[in-house]
Amino acid sequence: MKKIVLFASGSGSNVENIVKYFQKTSSVEITKVYTNNPNAYVIDRCKKLGIACEIFSRNDFREKQTVLDDLKVINPDLIVLAGFLWLVPKEYVAAFPNRIINIHPALLPKHGGKGMYGQRVHEAVVDNKDSESGITIHYVNEKYDEGNVICQEKCTVLNTDTADDVAAKVHELEYKYFPLAIEKLLLSE
Ligand code: GAR
Repeated sequence: MKKIVLFASGSGSNVENIVKYFQKTSSVEITKVYTNNPNAYVIDRCKKLGIACEIFSRNDFREKQTVLDDLKVINPDLIVLAGFLWLVPKEYVAAFPNRIINIHPALLPKHGGKGMYGQRVHEAVVDNKDSESGITIHYVNEKYDEGNVICQEKCTVLNTDTADDVAAKVHELEYKYFPLAIEKLLLSE
């Protein structure tokens, strides 16, 4: 049985989608969901899904690193950032080489980096008059959105699309391809 943990900061629709996908299989267990945001809707989703959800502070994450200690005990096969907005400290990256992945809602290296998340990314795509957007699933290193790319999936952006339209298209790609990419990584080990 492979074990994964998920990190999220907000709504958690990707978390819910990933949990539901793997609840149908017997080969992967979602051990825990972590969030830095005590008001995040992902907490309610976890309650409904029957998944443990742990809330941590910046101090727990960065200074005391109790989250890292907890991860070392769980020893997950994969740590999945699904809408997680904080930079991951280098100690975590070193402890789990090529075992931390992130999804970014655009085609990196475009529209990535500090402060580029969620709706801001889709607004940048529209402002830039891009004709396509998509998702990038990549390994996490100690810089925002710069780790090696695992896969990208694209969607067309029409010149009439709003940021909300782009967000809907990108979410559709996320829901389809993120669980598949996780499964592929776990089963190729
Ligand atoms: C997702 O679109 C994800 O790609 C994005 O946040 C959203 C979270 O939605 N991640 C980033 O922007 C990271 N830079 P969700 O909470 O409904 O899954």
